[in-house]
Amino acid sequence: MKKLQLLASSALFVVATSTAMAQSAFDKAHMASFKENGIAKMDRLDRDETQIFCSSLDAISGKGDPKKREAIEKANMATIKQPSDGKYLGDWKEGEKIAQSGRGATWSDKAGVPNGGGCYNCHQINKKEISHGNIGPSLWNYAKLRGNTDAVVQYTWGKIYNSKAYNACSNMPRMGHYKLLTEQQMRDVMALLMDPESPVNQ
Ligand code: HEC
Repeated sequence: MKKLQLLASSALFVVATSTAMAQSAFDKAHMASFKENGIAKMDRLDRDETQIFCSSLDAISGKGDPKKREAIEKANMATIKQPSDGKYLGDWKEGEKIAQSGRGATWSDKAGVPNGGGCYNCHQINKKEISHGNIGPSLWNYAKLRGNTDAVVQYTWGKIYNSKAYNACSNMPRMGHYKLLTEQQMRDVMALLMDPESPVNQ
């Protein structure tokens, strides 16, 4: 196991140093190996400040500048839009479907067709669904454990809208910021987590 880790980190080091030395050749080869196809445009290779920082070796090894992390969280926080009609909760039944679905955002998808949230890929949500990932914490009994105060509702909306506002290098996709989910879809997954009627809170 130790040996494997060592191998993996030296491979990372080789990639990083050769990338630094031959940035332009690397960029050229990289760009040339991707094609525009359907809704998958070349801009998918553009990284924002957050992604550049979080894929740096310093950030990966936990040594990244804490001030930079703070600045990244602040910048992501500033992107969060509250629901346009002030309503945070939609329909938990729709929310369950969105949380279950990992479809969308690939070259074969049509523009404007809503994506899935893929929440179960990383979270346990309704205990009845036994197939789920565990990169993220369990969201079972979410509001039952945390309560329904405005602070919890707004934090949860914000976390789903832009997870990196609360944790600069969070593994969770920025659902609202990157328009992966629509405002209504976000209300529906909110209801799945927050509605007292939702099976998640039984
Ligand atoms: C690729 C993995 C991944 C996906 C997909 C994902 N999450 Fe997360 N989520 C995480 C991780 C990891 C955390 C833990 C905190 C952090 O690092 O951001 C988290 C944290 C959360 C939290 C905060 C929990 C707390 O106790 O504060 C909520 C709420 C949440 N996710 C909801 C969702 C919803 C709803 C979806 C689907 C729309 C979703 N997540 C999709 C990885 C993911």
